[in-house]
Parts: sequence; C-alpha cells; structure tokens
Amino acid sequence: MSGKLVIGNWKMNTRGDGARELAAALLADSATNREGVGIAAPAVYLSDLARQLAGGRLALAAQDVSRFAADGAYTGETSASMLADVGCRYTLVGHSERRQYFGEDNAALLAKMRNAAAAGVTPVLCVGETLAEREAGRHLAVIADQLAILTEIAGDGYVIAYEPVWAIGTGKVATLEQIAEIHAFIKNWCLQNTDGSDKIRVLYGGSVKAENAEAILATKNVDGALVGGASLDADSFRVICQAAGNMI
Ligand code: PGA
Repeated sequence: MSGKLVIGNWKMNTRGDGARELAAALLADSATNREGVGIAAPAVYLSDLARQLAGGRLALAAQDVSRFAADGAYTGETSASMLADVGCRYTLVGHSERRQYFGEDNAALLAKMRNAAAAGVTPVLCVGETLAEREAGRHLAVIADQLAILTEIAGDGYVIAYEPVWAIGTGKVATLEQIAEIHAFIKNWCLQNTDGSDKIRVLYGGSVKAENAEAILATKNVDGALVGGASLDADSFRVICQAAGNMI
C-alpha cells in the first residue's frame, strides 16, 4: 500500500472562478499537489479543472457516475467513459447523499462500480450507517449489506470510504474507537468475502478537519480520508493532506 489517500469532495459547491482559484491554490502547494491527493469536483467543472491540473500530480475525481455504460438516451447522465475521457482518476460511488436523495440502491451501485472500473476510473464506494441504525445496534449489518456488491466484482481495483451518515457535515466525528472498529470490520469483511485482497484501501469520512485529521489518519486501518466541508478551504485541506503525507 503506497501512502494515504485524501480526496476532497466539493459536493454541489463552487462556481467556475472559485473552482479555478481553489485548484490553483492546491496546485501551488507541494502538500496538496502530489500523488495521494484528489479533488471530487462538480461534473460541470471537471474538464475545465482537468486542463488546469494537467502536468500537476493532484488527481481529478467525479462525485458520481452513471449506472448506464453505453452512450444513449439517458438524459442528464455522465458515463464512466466520459469521466475517463476528461481525465478522472477516481469517482465516488454511493455517497450517502446519493443514497438518501436519489434512492441509489445496491443494484444501481454495482452497475456504477463496474462501469467505472471498466473505464479505468477507480470507484470509491461510500458506506456508512445512520444514527438510528447505530442506535439500534444494526450498524455492522447495514455496512455488510452495503459492502455486499463487492462480492460481484472481480479484483481489488476500488477504494472504500466509511462515512457514518451522522458524522457528515454535522461537526460530529466518530470516536477513534468507533473508526478503528468499523475499519477493522470492513477489512476483515473484504478478506473473507472479496478476492481476499488486503490491498483495499479504506478511507474515513465525516467531519474530517485540520484539527482532527492527524489523529484520525493515525488510527489503525485508516488508509486516508474523504473530506467534505474542509476541502473547500485550501488552508484546511492542506493541513489534512500534510498530515496524511507525513504518514507515508
Ligand atoms: P464532511 O463531508 O467532511 O463535510 O462531513 C464528508 C463527505 O460527505 O464526504
């Protein structure tokens, strides 16, 4: 495993100028303009950012990908091969906001994972339980159910992000014990149920910030971070990426 991976998820934020400014700040900094750092920008800005990032080392990521593989009459969709065409190295798949607001289920997410991998875009499968599920003691079962699609996928060409829904954008962070427990659970699950690879990276996401990044990234089985709000601020994102870089 080669170092920690940090991906900034800009969600539905920024406009052209702001996106370019943020990317310029990240490009100008060796803590962020390096292997192991990526930005998941809104689809409409990806090709513009790809041109800007050309020659840099910062990876471009998409926030979602179509479940339809081939070109055709799928209004509003962006295919995996379009993402590859503009130079995306990663795409998020099944972020909890997609599951919640767009009803994405395992069947759709399996298709997205397959399409991304086939196009050479590494999928980052997001999993995580809601507060109600955790309080009912169902969190491990929920996560296992979300991971189940991985049994249908050959190889280990994907990344997993554990994002407890109750910690996303709320300022509430899972405790280091909770993070360690779930990451160990995911890694063991993968060893038992996928091609048996121990190379699968598991990122943590949910209110990762400059102040808590180091402790989270140092937690056992945490191979990186998926960062929402704090990735919109170049200084905060830089501190997080620097903490990750120091642990290579
Ligand atoms: P947050 O978002 O860092 O703002 O909590 C994380 C995510 O949704 O990926």
